[in-house]
Amino acid sequence: MRDTTSLLPLVVRDLRLEMEGRVLLDVPIARIQNRKRSVVLGPNGAGKTLFLKLCHGLVPPTAGSIEFTSPRSAAEIRRKQAMVFQKPVMLRRSVRANFTHALAMAGVGWSERRRIATETMAQFGLTALADVPARVLSGGEQQRLAIARAASLNPDLLFLDEPTSSLDPTASRQIEDMLEVLHERGVTLVLTTHDLGLARRFADVIFFFHGGRLVEENDAQTFFSSPQSAEAQAFLEHRLFW
Ligand SMILES: Nc1ncnc2c1ncn2[C@@H]1O[C@H](COP(=O)(O)OP(=O)(O)O)[C@@H](O)[C@H]1O
Ligand SMILES: [Mg+2]
Repeated sequence: MRDTTSLLPLVVRDLRLEMEGRVLLDVPIARIQNRKRSVVLGPNGAGKTLFLKLCHGLVPPTAGSIEFTSPRSAAEIRRKQAMVFQKPVMLRRSVRANFTHALAMAGVGWSERRRIATETMAQFGLTALADVPARVLSGGEQQRLAIARAASLNPDLLFLDEPTSSLDPTASRQIEDMLEVLHERGVTLVLTTHDLGLARRFADVIFFFHGGRLVEENDAQTFFSSPQSAEAQAFLEHRLFW
């Protein structure tokens, strides 16, 4: 079991993102807790993807702070987090090369790269695809590769943007199984979705967004049984579309 107590929680305070005079994000406070399965939920355009990108440090906020309570260096913190994008970004080479390249970028030595790639492919059912060019994989296989590749870097914290949104039910279940394995392993997972089914099955904590605002942060059971905000109630009753 890894010890991530020094990296998390990630605390977000008074976060705002403005672009071209529009407030795109407004998050007074949010706390991403160690080893909790966090789901960023909300309708299209709610600000879910932007929130993830800010948390991962890809987009600088206009105001506010995003801080780990960690004594580790900024470079170390960066190394311990990864993000999987909604459209998987694949190297136009074999599945195996996708692993070894990512590991090389992370500074892992040659023999170690081969070993980790082989092990990770075996863990996530990718061994038979090792020599197949990544671009010919199905959508579900590409998503599996993207997540497995991120996992091979041994992150403490993994952000996933709509990991199952374009997949059929079987492929979605495979991804959900993978996420459970990573959770069991001690990786803190934060995913966005507009899919209530996925949120109900997966979440320990819900961050509910609407119109760029974090409307409600609640433990999942409470959120689904007695949501505090009118917007969340409407969303749960399929009455909130954007
Ligand atoms: N680079 C950008 N420039 C201007 N507006 C943006 C940019 N990225 C996202 N937005 C706007 O911010 C809002 C939230 O977007 P996003 O985080 O992608 O929503 P979600 O992921 O919840 O569907 C949307 O209204 C979108 O149009
Ligand atoms: Mg999005």
